[in-house]
Amino acid sequence: MLSFDFQTFMKDEVSITNNQDYLLKKESIFRKLKESPMTGWREVLQDETLIEKIIAKASWVRRNSSCLVVIGIGGSYMGCYALDKLFSSQFFPNSFPLIYAGYQISDAYLEELISYLKEKDFCLNVISKSGTTLETTIAYQKLLDFMKKKYSEEELRQRIIITTDKNKGVLREDVINNRYFSFEIPDNIGGRYSVLSVVGLFPLATQIDIRKLLSGAMNASAYMEDAYFYAYLRKELYNHGRVVENFVVYDEKMLMFCEWLKQLFAESEGKENRGILPISTFNTRDLHSLGQFFQEGNPIIFETVLRMQHFGNKERVQDIAIESVCEAHMSHTPSNVITCSDLSEYTVGELIYFFFLSAAFSALLFEVDPFNQPGVEAYKEKMRERL
Ligand code: PA5
Repeated sequence: MLSFDFQTFMKDEVSITNNQDYLLKKESIFRKLKESPMTGWREVLQDETLIEKIIAKASWVRRNSSCLVVIGIGGSYMGCYALDKLFSSQFFPNSFPLIYAGYQISDAYLEELISYLKEKDFCLNVISKSGTTLETTIAYQKLLDFMKKKYSEEELRQRIIITTDKNKGVLREDVINNRYFSFEIPDNIGGRYSVLSVVGLFPLATQIDIRKLLSGAMNASAYMEDAYFYAYLRKELYNHGRVVENFVVYDEKMLMFCEWLKQLFAESEGKENRGILPISTFNTRDLHSLGQFFQEGNPIIFETVLRMQHFGNKERVQDIAIESVCEAHMSHTPSNVITCSDLSEYTVGELIYFFFLSAAFSALLFEVDPFNQPGVEAYKEKMRERL
């Protein structure tokens, strides 16, 4: 379950109660979201045949390999990576690890990875909606060459899993020509809104109960009003000069979730000279560095704290820290607090869906398209020209 405190640590500069504009905009924003063609993510996956296919393949992969290499970048990897880190132990290495590639272009990294994989049986899941992303292509080609030397064609058909567009792109051609195993990314779901589609679900199914994740997300349409309230509040804060949002976590496991949030908000609303710059901090570590800025620096920031609820009898140091920090920062930096009842798959599913809605509402309040990313395409284009 999620609960929200958008009031206690907010400065008086923003007040939304009885605000006509809030209600007027709400109607049009909800309508715009409904009319958008890129909202496939709103219908949480319920197709039992597909869910079965994902789970069956994931368990085949686990039975026949010692790890799964996931190749992708941006929305095609970030969500899976964030949840993988969130659900795995920081001290006991997972008996079946996910290993990532294609999100960077270091030769040394790929070489080291290949030499690590030499003595291992592994599977590979390459994920790219366009099928043309450079970082992904480079890593895929190198690992494919390596796998071709190691496995027979028959084995490659089991060990290579391609997640891409259902009709177009080089990867789809690879599926057709070589009869590789594949999943289809729905047309109406963009990268950063795709973690609850085959993009994130297949690799995650080797680690967690994806049905619970999906059922949490299904329940989260109940947070529609809260998501709009949060989006509207962000916009109001922005209008008062708060142009940076700091996502704050107190559990190190949530750090990559913040990276996912940064991508979701930055790519959804950072366009046409508008938008709030998302950053993140891990407390209390960062209170001993960036904390100084939040307390006394340029007042352009507001914070959104992701808090995990605690059901013990005793007051927990972490809760005391959150209250104390929000209270101390409040004179200078206002805070929202979003509380998760636990860190289960179900609750994380709710949290993801809540942020999907908020990011889309937020971009619509900024009057930009939440679902395109022309800025990201621009650098890809330039690189392609040069290469
Ligand atoms: O959110 C997005 O759409 C982007 O971050 C893409 O996911 C990213 O650029 C990777 O694109 P592709 O899946 O086409 O390789």
